[in-house]
Amino acid sequence: MNKNEELIARREAAQLGGGQARIDKQHQGGKLTARERLTLLLDENSFQEIGQFVEHRATSFGLEKQKFPGDGVVTGYGTIHGRLVYVFSQDFTVLGGSLSETHAAKICRVMDLAMKNGAPVIGLNDSGGARIQEGVVSLAGYADIFYRNTRASGVIPQISVIMGPCAGGAVYSPALTDFIFMVEDTSYMFVTGPNVVKTVTHEEVSSEDLGGAKAHAEKSGVNHFTASNDVECLKKVRDLLTYMPQNAYELPPYPEKYTFNNSKLESIKSIIPDNSNLPYDIRKVIDAVIDDNSFREVHEDFAKNIVVGFARLEGRTIGIVANQPASLAGVLDIDASRKGARFVRFCDSFNIPLLVFEDVPGFLPGTDQEWRGIITNGAKLLYAFSEATVPRITVITRKAYGGAFDVMNSKSIGADLNFAWPTAEIAVMGAKGAAEIIFKREIAEAQDSNAKWLEKEAEYAEMFANPYRAAERGIVDDVILPEETRAKVIAGFKMLENKAETLPQKKHGNIPL
Ligand code: HXC
Repeated sequence: MNKNEELIARREAAQLGGGQARIDKQHQGGKLTARERLTLLLDENSFQEIGQFVEHRATSFGLEKQKFPGDGVVTGYGTIHGRLVYVFSQDFTVLGGSLSETHAAKICRVMDLAMKNGAPVIGLNDSGGARIQEGVVSLAGYADIFYRNTRASGVIPQISVIMGPCAGGAVYSPALTDFIFMVEDTSYMFVTGPNVVKTVTHEEVSSEDLGGAKAHAEKSGVNHFTASNDVECLKKVRDLLTYMPQNAYELPPYPEKYTFNNSKLESIKSIIPDNSNLPYDIRKVIDAVIDDNSFREVHEDFAKNIVVGFARLEGRTIGIVANQPASLAGVLDIDASRKGARFVRFCDSFNIPLLVFEDVPGFLPGTDQEWRGIITNGAKLLYAFSEATVPRITVITRKAYGGAFDVMNSKSIGADLNFAWPTAEIAVMGAKGAAEIIFKREIAEAQDSNAKWLEKEAEYAEMFANPYRAAERGIVDDVILPEETRAKVIAGFKMLENKAETLPQKKHGNIPL
């Protein structure tokens, strides 16, 4: 074998990871291998590997006899729709994808390159966690990654794709990144697994129920996007990236082509029900305003009373935050506030203008919410909007009551333009409650208290259940017809294109965490 042949043989060995038998096992489990995943994620033939021959240096517990080129993680760079990205893909066929000192160093290497060159990092996670035989150096390796995740936050987009186990402290790298994708049935994330849970809390729970894609999509909100298999998942990652800039100093890509079905200008007229207490799906409003099929909902199954996601207006990326009257009447609670705040901060970090659709009856009352901190958590959304310097437009479709009116991107907290539909109701509280408080004595003293209450309720509603009191004060900039919304927000964002606003000089703010 000459030297060139030796290189080719070494490369072939590296391609095989932990060997054919383990690759077959991976396939039998419904999972692709680390390299197959990268092939699907990246543009054809664009992957350039770094560190293919890196091996661990551990000698304990017979590890010196178990060396695999690449040490359980495939790292490098490539392109997605022609744009540079850095990637790492953990190889479960090599020692369970466990993270050694050198495995961590390979991940850190691509993260460092990504920071220097201003491009996203995408991590495909499939790992048994810290390489147990290596001990503390493996733990330090994780910490090296966490540190870089934090430093890179808000500078370059970071995406974590969970395609197998992700347990123990290993979960904290994905948690520090911007978006988490999970694959149903084959991926799970938890700080402690079912066995420890059983010992400590006596709960019996499966891995899937404890930390599968569905649990994290619906209950914890850890998972932003669910896919039914590896192939679908990687397609979704490619698609999501088209909405993002490469880094915090650039604008999102601007695709020239878009379509807008003009019949939506007709359908938008009849979305709001005549009775203002009836629900409707805010996604119909979103869909009728944005470019066709451009909405990419984030956190679709979590805190459904708020809808957030990316969309396009005449081809340009925007972020949408919208109360959802079809779920809990669109009320703001702890989860909705957290969900909204996190999304607003992502958009603001990466120069994505924000469009808010508001129909909010207020904050959710009750001991559960108060004792779990609706005050601190609601403040997160308020803080996130107040801090955002990207162009911001609000459209009040119906209710805008109480503190929730202030929070939902009101002009006083820095929104650039606020519009209201003729169906808007902008007041301190709903007419029924308001009448009960301010006309308490009159209602009590009336012969027919109920009738008096109804009369006063109507009086209050007449006064405030409309957009004109707010428009008179300039609290909203214009009252617009639903079918005018698209044109108005497009014109608004064009007008705001060169918006330049900076925050007061500081080390960083102290968001109420
Ligand atoms: C070394 C590991 C490993 C690990 C798996 N393997 N996890 N080797 N360190 N952490 C090896 C196995 O020995 C096995 O080797 C191969 O990978 C495949 O594992 P299996 O157990 O056969 O696979 P499976 O049945 O699919 O089970 C997967 C698993 C299980 C659920 C992930 O392997 C497991 O429980 N592993 C340990 C998980 C764990 O406790 N990790 C440490 C968490 S603490 P062979 O040679 O037999 O194929 C942690 C701290 C991070 O991560 C802290 C950061 C701050």
